[in-house]
Amino acid sequence: MPRKIAAGNWKMNGTSSDLVELDKLAAAHADPSVVMLICPPATLIERADRICAAAGIAVGGQDCHAAASGAHTGDTSAQMLWDAGAAYVILGHSERRADHGETDADVSAKIAAAQAVGLTAILCVGESLAQRDAGQALAVVGAQLRGSLPDGVAADRLIVAYEPVWAIGTGKVPTLEQIGEVHGFLRASLADLVAEGAADVPLLYGGSVKAANAADIFGVADVDGALVGGASLTAADFSPIVTALQNA
Ligand code: PGA
Repeated sequence: MPRKIAAGNWKMNGTSSDLVELDKLAAAHADPSVVMLICPPATLIERADRICAAAGIAVGGQDCHAAASGAHTGDTSAQMLWDAGAAYVILGHSERRADHGETDADVSAKIAAAQAVGLTAILCVGESLAQRDAGQALAVVGAQLRGSLPDGVAADRLIVAYEPVWAIGTGKVPTLEQIGEVHGFLRASLADLVAEGAADVPLLYGGSVKAANAADIFGVADVDGALVGGASLTAADFSPIVTALQNA
């Protein structure tokens, strides 16, 4: 059985004054059956980890460079994230694909770099609304999955997040049937693509998850947790989502 994971993606939000939200999460987190993960901006990873480590809350990055080091002004390597206290890194988020032109090949190289230093990679895949309306949702996420997994990917350091682009930050959520269809497809596809351990790769749903819809989403087969943006920014919004996952 894959582990349940509640992951928060703070995106480009958060300065030191927001660390108080982690203090609140740390005070409440006690259930080891759920991995609680917060991915703050890189500037806060080290301080976030100091707060989270003792409470058993994991910390992750939101991107890394594929190279180990070198002349890449402004970028952050996988080793740097690890060194700062991160154990996870989100890779191939649709905002990185859109804002920075990241391709599946780029994402594949980043996953290899992340796993090489011990990070667990959270690969994001998801179709646009136009692609869904054209009946291409499965074809698109299937191609992203195939193209983004490096040769020899380690299943035990891999998480896949299904994040339909049209559901991110919009308040729109696919139907439970649509989520179940894509997650079932991802589970079957992983079995073809990953040599060993495909059944244990956690599959997260992401896109406008909030307290009001979390329990229903966690009831869908092959949904092992969520990648949460807006509703992860405060403990008041994120805690009920974690609780819903504990109860699922
Ligand atoms: P959202 O973002 O929860 O704000 O829709 C999810 C994500 O982009 O990971």
